[in-house]
Amino acid sequence: MCGIMGYSGYRSAAEVLIKGLHRLEYRGYDSAGISILEDKRLHTIKTCGKVKDLEGIVPSELTGHIGIGHTRWATHGEPSDTNAHPHHDNSGKIALIHNGIIENHSALRRYLAEEGVTFKSETDTEVLVAYIGHLYGQGGVTLSDAVRRALTTVVGTYGIVVMCEDEPDTLVAARLGSPLVLGIGDNEIIVSSDATPIIEYTRNVVYLGDGEMAVIHASSYELVSISDNLPVRASEQQLDMTIEQIEKGGYPHFMFKEIMEQVVTIPDAMRGRVDFSAGKVNLGGIRDWEASLLDSDWIYLTACGTSWHAALIGGYLIEELVGIPVKVEHASEFRYRQSIISDRHTVMAISQSGETADTLAAIRKAHEAGALTMGIVNAVGSSIARETDCGVFIHAGPEIGVASTKAFTSQLTVLFLISLLLAQRAGKSQQEIRAILEELEGIGNKVAEVLALSDAILVLAGEYQACHNFLYLGRGFQYPIALEGALKLKEISYIHAEGYPAAEMKHGPIALIDENMPVVVMAVKDGTFEKVLSNIQEIKARRGKVLAITDARDPELEELADHIIQVPTTHELLLPLITVIPLQLLAYHIAVLRGCPVDQPRNLAKSVTVE
Ligand code: G6P
Repeated sequence: MCGIMGYSGYRSAAEVLIKGLHRLEYRGYDSAGISILEDKRLHTIKTCGKVKDLEGIVPSELTGHIGIGHTRWATHGEPSDTNAHPHHDNSGKIALIHNGIIENHSALRRYLAEEGVTFKSETDTEVLVAYIGHLYGQGGVTLSDAVRRALTTVVGTYGIVVMCEDEPDTLVAARLGSPLVLGIGDNEIIVSSDATPIIEYTRNVVYLGDGEMAVIHASSYELVSISDNLPVRASEQQLDMTIEQIEKGGYPHFMFKEIMEQVVTIPDAMRGRVDFSAGKVNLGGIRDWEASLLDSDWIYLTACGTSWHAALIGGYLIEELVGIPVKVEHASEFRYRQSIISDRHTVMAISQSGETADTLAAIRKAHEAGALTMGIVNAVGSSIARETDCGVFIHAGPEIGVASTKAFTSQLTVLFLISLLLAQRAGKSQQEIRAILEELEGIGNKVAEVLALSDAILVLAGEYQACHNFLYLGRGFQYPIALEGALKLKEISYIHAEGYPAAEMKHGPIALIDENMPVVVMAVKDGTFEKVLSNIQEIKARRGKVLAITDARDPELEELADHIIQVPTTHELLLPLITVIPLQLLAYHIAVLRGCPVDQPRNLAKSVTVE
């Protein structure tokens, strides 16, 4: 969602903030703004549009050393200059940036209006800063007091940074539900909604916990609990991230870079976790919980978006290899449904960012019900990583492209490892486990072979780029891959695409098929290959166009399909790792050919911290 930046130190705050906002732009991007304190006055510049639009209007003579900055993903009020952050209180002395939603903003707005406060924007954020300003005006109240008091009244979620002309050395940052991290440098402190803008200044970070507030000066900070104002001990950590990981490194887009990185990230997800010669998996993050996991009556897998597709595959894997019943549910459904959940269950949350609001809420609900909670997360230090009982990091490195690619295949790799480990413990035949591990050991080479198909897929993308609708079909383990292929295409190319279990085509989507409807069919040589061939016959009988993804050389398929993307074969269970890559490349190339902004597709955000 929104990107948050705060800076207090010795550099030009505007420069640090703008650079940081560029790095955060992937989180949300419909408007941007900064406030800088200079000559005892707040200078606020904001605009609808991208950070580069903001950069163009920030005066070069603005050289103050303390400030806040924001990129917005609109929730309340359309993207506009007025609705952009920072917002000011009525006196104009206090500026605030906010990620999240203030749910009781209407009641607060009414109360403040009765008190004579006026508003310029439609945002919930302006209500919050107006309220802070209202409290600050009540003699003797410091900025941090006013912020803390206001936050004990508001209902909702927030990551905020606030500053005030009358306290020119202070930034106040606070969080509830929206991530904030402090970068602690030498005589400078950077606040951000994630670590990417911090790495070029310092590796030393403190992740703010929910319900915590930081009072920040250039060379010191203190943490307090919002509810009772008691000091909180800060735990400083070292960032495990490099600048190269967060730059494009010569690639035209982050998404393409991240697709290509899978040759490394998939093996990285296994590094140090598998003894291939002994045929054994070892996952330190769940070692103490293996017995409880195996003792679960049910395992729930919950996630959103692409991570939910990984969860679907994880569910198939656990049932097939371990034999424990699994339910896979969107986190947004799980959290509100009357689900039957207790200490007899395990709830696994899958999340790249570790901050997705619904997934986090699902974990909290599971925790309250006494279930064992487990995270499969990329972002170390994120809320889900911290709030789960145990978990396994996927170690994919920062993912900047909004459409998830390398995180998905790393999630799958970790799900394989978890399933194999539990299968081992559950007494599954070691021979079968070894067969899968042997294939996993060499998977990097096969991934490289698929990535080498990029140019050929670009040619196909040229043939299909003008289509208005796509259907993606798959069976078994290839069904979630069909869903993921369709999601990738619609996210970044804005072409309508639907994924379906191949057999379900007859129950509806077949009505759409004609010569204008391309159907991407996952036709791998598993137990359902013949059935998939029959589905292709049905499509061809209605003059539909078939693009088949297969690991087989099959004369019938070659005769039927209009186009074939041939991938290397591997163990049937591991095929999703291979077959998803051509779908990522197809979506990418089609979107680029259509001139779409693939790294920042319209209306989307990388990290969805509001529900
Ligand atoms: C957003 C992103 C998707 C992602 C989903 C879940 O919708 O655009 O790429 O799959 O959130 O995010 P998570 O960080 O929980 O995996």
